Amino acid sequence: MLSKRLEKLADYLHKPVHFADIGSDHAYLPCYVCSRHEHATAIAGEVNQGPFERAKQTVGEYGLADRIEVRKGNGLDVIKEKEVNQITIAGMGGKLIRTILEEGKAKLSGVSRLILQPNIDAQIVRKWLIDHHYQIVAEEIISEDGYIYEIIVSDYQNTPSQFSEKELLFGPYLLQEKSEVFFNKWRNEKEKRIKLVNQMKQATNLPVDKIKKLETEMEWIEEVIEDVNR
Ligand SMILES: C[S@@+](CC[C@H](N)C(=O)[O-])C[C@H]1O[C@@H](n2cnc3c(N)ncnc32)[C@H](O)[C@@H]1O
Repeated sequence: MLSKRLEKLADYLHKPVHFADIGSDHAYLPCYVCSRHEHATAIAGEVNQGPFERAKQTVGEYGLADRIEVRKGNGLDVIKEKEVNQITIAGMGGKLIRTILEEGKAKLSGVSRLILQPNIDAQIVRKWLIDHHYQIVAEEIISEDGYIYEIIVSDYQNTPSQFSEKELLFGPYLLQEKSEVFFNKWRNEKEKRIKLVNQMKQATNLPVDKIKKLETEMEWIEEVIEDVNR
């Protein structure tokens, strides 16, 4: 059984499905998608030997080697230009996802949709997307096994879109929706920032800019949480 998190990602793939799953580990997502859609094809990319072997094993067990190719390599190096129309990258930090997209941006022509699930620093991913003509078209926030995950769906468009720093932090759609999971996440995030700022204030050389940024974010969180309580 696939995790709710990966199932949600799969739901956002549009037909025809020819996608690359970067950092695929067991290749569970490509196997799930290709076993449900007979015309779907996928490339499972993995940089590390262990997960690469595991991905090949799962694809073999599902008998899907004719439609899922497991390739070893860093980020988008594993795909050729115009080979896929969508890319999924899940279960990594936002900074790593941004690095993968930035280093591989030459491979993105023809990629109409990016479906991304950063474990942390989602705002870094959103910023990269809007700076590179990927319009955020949907977002999800889900809770599973004690963790909270955000999923960002973005489509290529000619005209760039704009969001405020606040929308980038919370997610423009998640901010409108303000679900219970969203509320729980930001209550925790506020506590984390309070601790961090207190620690920073003990330092001999005060990181003034970092403290200011965190305090601004804390104000935004207060506003958003208050709004949820209303
Ligand atoms: C935590 S796992 C997530 C697996 C799966 N995507 C998921 O969400 O369940 C992250 C995977 O990304 C791989 N990875 C990390 N950096 C990568 C990179 N630059 N290129 C390709 N794969 C990478 C790791 O080897 C690991 O298997």
